[in-house]
Amino acid sequence: MKLLKNISMLYRVPAEGGHDEVDAVADAAIAWEGDTIRYAGPASDLPDELAAAESFDAGGRCVVPGLIDCHTHLCFGGWRGDEFAARLEGASYQDIQAAGGGINSTVKATRSASRDELAEKAATALADMARLGVTTVEAKSGYGLNRDDEIKQLEVYRSLKDTQALEIVPTFLGAHLVPTEYRDRRDDYVALLCNEIIPEVAERELACFCDVFIEDNAFTLAEGRKILEAAKSHGLGLKIHADQLSAAGGAGLAAELGAVSAEHLEYASEQDIAAMADAGTVAVSLPIASLYLREPYLPAREWIAAGTRVAVATDFNPGSAPSYHLHLAMTLAAVHQRMSPNEVLRGVTSHAARAIGLHSSHGSLQPGYRADLAVIDAPHINHWLYHFRPNACAGTLKNGNWIAGEFRSLD
Ligand code: NIG
Ligand code: FE
Repeated sequence: MKLLKNISMLYRVPAEGGHDEVDAVADAAIAWEGDTIRYAGPASDLPDELAAAESFDAGGRCVVPGLIDCHTHLCFGGWRGDEFAARLEGASYQDIQAAGGGINSTVKATRSASRDELAEKAATALADMARLGVTTVEAKSGYGLNRDDEIKQLEVYRSLKDTQALEIVPTFLGAHLVPTEYRDRRDDYVALLCNEIIPEVAERELACFCDVFIEDNAFTLAEGRKILEAAKSHGLGLKIHADQLSAAGGAGLAAELGAVSAEHLEYASEQDIAAMADAGTVAVSLPIASLYLREPYLPAREWIAAGTRVAVATDFNPGSAPSYHLHLAMTLAAVHQRMSPNEVLRGVTSHAARAIGLHSSHGSLQPGYRADLAVIDAPHINHWLYHFRPNACAGTLKNGNWIAGEFRSLD
């Protein structure tokens, strides 16, 4: 049994409850055994048998559930700083993609990178994320766009489970773009995804979810439906990159197919917002992509008023969101999406856990949940979001072990 004491404010963030409800407890302690929380509450109520456990001192800081980045494109070759500069001069994301750049350029770089190179690059990002308080990361393929290179990305994710501390939840995004070699026979690519790659990914348990980018220049609504129905029939959960650049109808499809989440959503229609609320599909907002593409931010107040849970993630990728700094996404969500600090905290913990189907075990600090937490060097989360700095996280606990920060036992 282990114990973290001297917590000024402990945010338990229950999986159920209002969007603004974080269940904060002042002067708290938290105890865990192995990878599981046994007590989380007022220090004064700590059961006697736990008081003798090996102890750590939070130093009067606040403690939140381990942060969950529920949408990243973690594994990729190369970077695209040249496109960033072109966009600053007026080129649009879609123009660059139509001219053969964008996702296609990362596909080239990813295909030619070795597994070791890809794994090393992703591990470097994960080590930084751990220092920021992140404990679980959803990670997509989507830069291979053929059988071997899509599987290569998913195998990199599998290998990272053994070589670094963060938990990775892999998503198959073979439907990110129609690869150039299939440009004139896109039906064949959809058939390859549905009949060969998805069955193999599911059979080998290389991914938990299947995602599709539904957009002009990517996949149509009808193609998306076909791919996601195939994925569902093979037991994969569903996600959709929906309504990012235009109102293409992806949010409505996510609701109809019972997707666990839909992402971006800046252009979703009022009707589709209502449909997602009814279906319980999580809206994953990605404000760093809005920042870099100068696109509108998710109108979170409308979504929350409709009753939808809004998660917040980085979308880390070399094009639209070249940063894995979840705190940046959080502050943007507060300022531009008009979410309260409590709503933002839920967005990166309990709601993010729900967006990857893990809300019964991750994203909350309650007995029985995973011992994943972040010690934040601020008196409360309002101060954390307001005072943006390189890193406010003083320590990160994953599965009951310190993976970042200098937390020495008091014994
Ligand atoms: O979520 N929108 C599609 N996919 C990514 C961007 C990928 C890229 O530009 O490489 C996104 O924004
Ligand atoms: Fe994305």
